[in-house]
Amino acid sequence: MEQALNKIKTTTLELVGSSKTLDELEAIRVRVLGRKGELTGILRSLGSLTPEERAIMGKRSNEIKREIESALDARKEELNSASIEGLLQKDWIDLTLDREPLFTAGARGYQHPISQIQYEIEDIFTSMGFQILDGPEAETDYYNFEALNIPAHHPARDMQDTFWTEDGNLLRTHTSAIQIRGMEKIDPPFRVVGPGRVFRYESTDASHENTFYQVEGMMVDKEISVSHLIFFMKELLREIFHRDVKIRLRPGYFPFVEPGFELDINCLICGGSGCSVCKQSGWVELLPCGLVHPNVLRYGNIDPEEWSGFAFGLGMNRLIMMRYGINDIRHFLSGDIRFLKQF
Ligand code: DAH
Repeated sequence: MEQALNKIKTTTLELVGSSKTLDELEAIRVRVLGRKGELTGILRSLGSLTPEERAIMGKRSNEIKREIESALDARKEELNSASIEGLLQKDWIDLTLDREPLFTAGARGYQHPISQIQYEIEDIFTSMGFQILDGPEAETDYYNFEALNIPAHHPARDMQDTFWTEDGNLLRTHTSAIQIRGMEKIDPPFRVVGPGRVFRYESTDASHENTFYQVEGMMVDKEISVSHLIFFMKELLREIFHRDVKIRLRPGYFPFVEPGFELDINCLICGGSGCSVCKQSGWVELLPCGLVHPNVLRYGNIDPEEWSGFAFGLGMNRLIMMRYGINDIRHFLSGDIRFLKQF
């Protein structure tokens, strides 16, 4: 029995020492100390020994049992900490390392050209003392038409094909609605610009979109005249195109201005000699504008006897198209990354 005990001790301690996993260790424990384990079997058989033998072998067996138990515990500890270290090793982070670039070159997002031009225009106008206003894209008939001197059944409503909602409201067809909202909020004298998205119920082609972008402008002060209008428009164009741009004014009809104009610029694509963008005329229609109609001032609670103003509605898409020689307005909302990447 003594021999058997020693054999159990040496082989078990060896096995424990070379075990690699906690499962392996548990299997060893069961095989030796489990209910049907080798050592358990010996402990059970002690009863058949003489009292003297039992005292000696019992002591010896318990010593071996404790040795094996503490070897198992120690190895368990080792394997546990090794597996934590393993985990740490795997998830180890070097906080002193430079991080990987978030985007690889060329894969970054871009500011849409419309946003770029909008921010540029806002900067130009704020530097000239204009405030920036906003307005809702879903508008009421009042702000989009009526207060702009376009009452119900006025033929001018047909100039702008409109997306109506079932409850009689609409998607604004132009940023001119912001003029009325501006006059309600601010007392004259004032200078405001209102950039925004507008909607027309029309089919699209290279120069028409159902969704596009405008910047409305309005200045109200004492004795505002066409020369003020021309001055500010020329300043704007010089800043945008980084050079003096030749312009011409033609009469244009818009119910909310009197007189109303179409401001054309010399075609920057062909330099005025004629091309497909300017339809061979050498001029491009860019900026409808005029002096604010007295009725519109009255809708804004401004006395037209005391105050006067100019207004304009700049098409941002057209402006960008001119600047970069883009020949199809539909590119803007195409979401085509090859188009957007160029700006
Ligand atoms: N709202 C007009 C349109 O979208 C453009 C316009 C014309 C705006 C003359 C103005 C203006 O402020 O004075 O067709």
